[in-house]
Amino acid sequence: MTQCPHAAATGTGVGTEAVHLYGGRFQDEPARLYREMRRDHGPVAPIVLPGSIPAWLVLGYRELHQLTGDPVLFSRDSQLWNQWPAIPDDWPLMPMISRTQPSILYTVGERHSSRSAVISDALEAVNPFELKEGTAEFADELIDAFCSAGTADLIADYAMLMPVRVLAKLFGFSDEKGPALVTAMNDMINGGATALAGQRHIATSVYELVAERKATPGDDVVSRMLANTRGFTDEDVSRDLMVMMAAGHQPTADWIGNSLRLMLTDDRFAASLSGGRHSVGEAMNEVLWEDTPSQNIAGRWASRDTHLGGRHIKAGDLLVLSLAGANADPQVRTDGSTLTGGNNAFFSFSHGDHRCPFPAQETAEVIARTAIEVILDRLPDVDLAVPEEQLTRRPSPWLRGLTDLPARFTPTPALGGQR
Ligand code: HEM
Repeated sequence: MTQCPHAAATGTGVGTEAVHLYGGRFQDEPARLYREMRRDHGPVAPIVLPGSIPAWLVLGYRELHQLTGDPVLFSRDSQLWNQWPAIPDDWPLMPMISRTQPSILYTVGERHSSRSAVISDALEAVNPFELKEGTAEFADELIDAFCSAGTADLIADYAMLMPVRVLAKLFGFSDEKGPALVTAMNDMINGGATALAGQRHIATSVYELVAERKATPGDDVVSRMLANTRGFTDEDVSRDLMVMMAAGHQPTADWIGNSLRLMLTDDRFAASLSGGRHSVGEAMNEVLWEDTPSQNIAGRWASRDTHLGGRHIKAGDLLVLSLAGANADPQVRTDGSTLTGGNNAFFSFSHGDHRCPFPAQETAEVIARTAIEVILDRLPDVDLAVPEEQLTRRPSPWLRGLTDLPARFTPTPALGGQR
């Protein structure tokens, strides 16, 4: 544990030790960890990021609402950060907290509203029935590859191959480009030796597509963004397309994986012929409350000295949004109950100007729901192939998802494009 760099400023007498925002507990028992942090530090906890960089974790539902609702005081402008002099060039969180990347993520004020509208307008025009049909087609194709084997890893063979493929199609990429984009995206996310090559492949492909659609517009997201740039350049549009791909793929894949896990492990959702099948929508909703892919997001920067949750926040301090922490805040979960039944007041898509754009949320929902429905439809007796306790999560405090989800089922013949 590191001495809390903010302790002197708080004057509250609690939380003299800051919590490291990394390590096994985020993987194994995040709910308990958030509970303890709230108990020891209150709704705004001092934390330490890799490299002993101090920051705050906002765990309180009310405090997170206040923070996300005031984009001037709690800005998305990372230039404000008072820690930049301490950040080395090879800081591991650099891909997530960028100083220079001028994408939608770090744009503020009216420019942000316009930029957000370019994305939302283009996604809003997507026909949800076509989106569902296109997703179901990819789902069938993926299931065809393993359905006669009787076993599959529903993460590597399914969830991780789906959202980027659907998004690529929506954007206007040809079907032939899809598989290479999936590989590149997953290489980039896995952060191994091929990560940079993956990132380069995505960037090159996006720039090429933007050039192609500029010359020959079509009925796709890229053409619609280029036809409605509101003064933004092709470069800006390209950067935002990369954000949309990266921001869209992994959390949607994790939403599919975490929901399938819940349905395969919890009797209420027993996803087998012998058990009653609770609705897919309810499982997906429960996951966004209890096991959200988007656990913690960096972040916001205080534009001046202020107070939040009883803490003194200095100008330029970084505040990390604990969406999972706020979802579990006992102040809003008074009966401690599991929330299902379509209550959408969770924080998983954040809140305020920089929340996940509504049409992006809807896109994610159609992709995830269709992916889950098609699996249950094609493999009705699908079941876990290992004891539940053997399932593991990726070791990340940011996005929560399974490393694998081994499943077994009665082998069935491939459909080969026939439904
Ligand atoms: C389950 C799936 C998803 C989850 C849980 C999710 C969650 C989030 C969260 C928490 C943020 C950050 C908000 C903040 O800083 O306050 C965000 C931002 C964003 N998301 Fe999503 N997202 C998902 C899917 C998608 C998809 C499919 C797309 C695009 C097709 C997308 C596009 C974006 C964009 C462009 C932003 C930046 C918004 C801004 O800064 O104005 N997301 N998302």
